[in-house]
Amino acid sequence: MSNNLEKDKVINEVLSRVYSSNAIPELEYNRILERLEQIRIKIYAMLKEEFKSVTELIDKDDVILAGSVARRTALRGVSDCDIFIRFPSELNKEDLREIVLKTAVKIFGRNLIKERYAEHPYVEVYLDEFTLNIVPIYKVSPPNWRSAADRSYFHMLYLSNRLNDKLRREIIIAKSFIKGIGCYGAEVSVKGFSGYLIELLILAYKSFINLIKDTSRWRLPKIIDLEGYYRDKSHSYVRRLFPDKQLIVIDPVDKMRNVASALSNRKLAQFISASKFFLANPSINYFYPFSESHKESYYSNIDLNDIASRYAIITLIISHREQVEDILHGQLERLARKIYRQLRAAGFNVFKYDVYSNYQNISTIFYMLDAYKIALNYVDKGPPIYVPEERLVEFIKKHISDIVWLGDDYRWYLVRKRRYTDAKELIKNLINAKMIGLPKDIQPENILVVHINELLKLDKIYPEHFKLIVRWLSRFIKGEEFWRVFI
Ligand code: UTP
Ligand code: MN
Repeated sequence: MSNNLEKDKVINEVLSRVYSSNAIPELEYNRILERLEQIRIKIYAMLKEEFKSVTELIDKDDVILAGSVARRTALRGVSDCDIFIRFPSELNKEDLREIVLKTAVKIFGRNLIKERYAEHPYVEVYLDEFTLNIVPIYKVSPPNWRSAADRSYFHMLYLSNRLNDKLRREIIIAKSFIKGIGCYGAEVSVKGFSGYLIELLILAYKSFINLIKDTSRWRLPKIIDLEGYYRDKSHSYVRRLFPDKQLIVIDPVDKMRNVASALSNRKLAQFISASKFFLANPSINYFYPFSESHKESYYSNIDLNDIASRYAIITLIISHREQVEDILHGQLERLARKIYRQLRAAGFNVFKYDVYSNYQNISTIFYMLDAYKIALNYVDKGPPIYVPEERLVEFIKKHISDIVWLGDDYRWYLVRKRRYTDAKELIKNLINAKMIGLPKDIQPENILVVHINELLKLDKIYPEHFKLIVRWLSRFIKGEEFWRVFI
């Protein structure tokens, strides 16, 4: 594509198609919002009826439609509906949990609802037309938050006053793009962009195309401060407030909060790269790179025996009970990182590692190493010759039975022996000797540690899960990065 006019035309066509396939049509919105309004009234009535003592202070406006559906910025088939209930701040989280659960059971019946509790309690309701989250929050005013979710009410107010149809369209396109490249969602297993973050980015840049044109040239750290809370041009104060964060988007309703705090460096890098790829070669495929059928063939088209003969990959297979996604994922990542650090400290060369889970009963951690085994001995540096005599004597005494010599660079050297030469053995020991903390409810006997060639023979032990594990392994090896689709 040589000329820019031609490119713009393609981009405009692509964006129109994306919008019309991913937006919820007006009529459908009206229907959903009508239904939600009925539910909202029902919830209010039920609260009044069942919890008289605590709900005296609640009025109709404290049960509110919020989130992307209420703002008409939802993605078709992806977004869920959100109803928030603002409670007096005297109640504790356990009270909120109980009230919301009981109310939901009364209205929808036990079978349609699922209780959720990660950082904050809420219930999910599975209705025919959509999934609904009922989220209790506290009726506080900024910045006296009692719970992280309390801000959501103010997000709703802030955005409602600023959105228009043009901006909504751009938000839906931006969400579609970010979803397509695998960066949508602030949950722990994704660490990407939340819907609210994308809405703010569009408020800041006015259009999707402006956003990614700028993104493609971002130099990090990037700071976006819509309300201009921090006027200092060098942003040194903001950077100190949010250290280590490469994208800082100040929440318009709370200047102490970075809306992008859950975004990982990798997902940010992926977004920046994707915007460059797209501008260089605009195509609708960026919005739908991994269709289910494509995924299936992409990940199953791999010769694992060949991989096993060429690469060293250690797999931990962990059996467990069903758990809350965010909590389990966080625990698995911490476990994976601890083992990674121990492997490194013991002299193993780990290229990369990753965690996969179905959150129901099985999880895996993969480590790709340069080799399963390393040499028994290695050379370590001793002190330079210039150290004081006491230190030199101390060094020599300590290593009297080791091989020690003076190098050409006026420094002492010695041969040290490794405690572990086998990575699998080290990992097994860490787990069995309880040298590292395991996630709650997981015992050493729930964890199997194998080399990739052993893994491929495990179809008997894990008949139900074998295919899933191999698929995760394939994802680990091939990566999930969108650009592979275009090569
Ligand atoms: P949702 O996760 O449902 O997001 O949280 P959303 O904006 O409705 O977008 P969809 O559903 O992915 O299309 C509902 C509200 O909770 C707050 C925001 O105010 C959001 O609109 N929230 C949620 C956050 O502030 N941060 C988060 O990480 C998640
Ligand atoms: Mn939502």
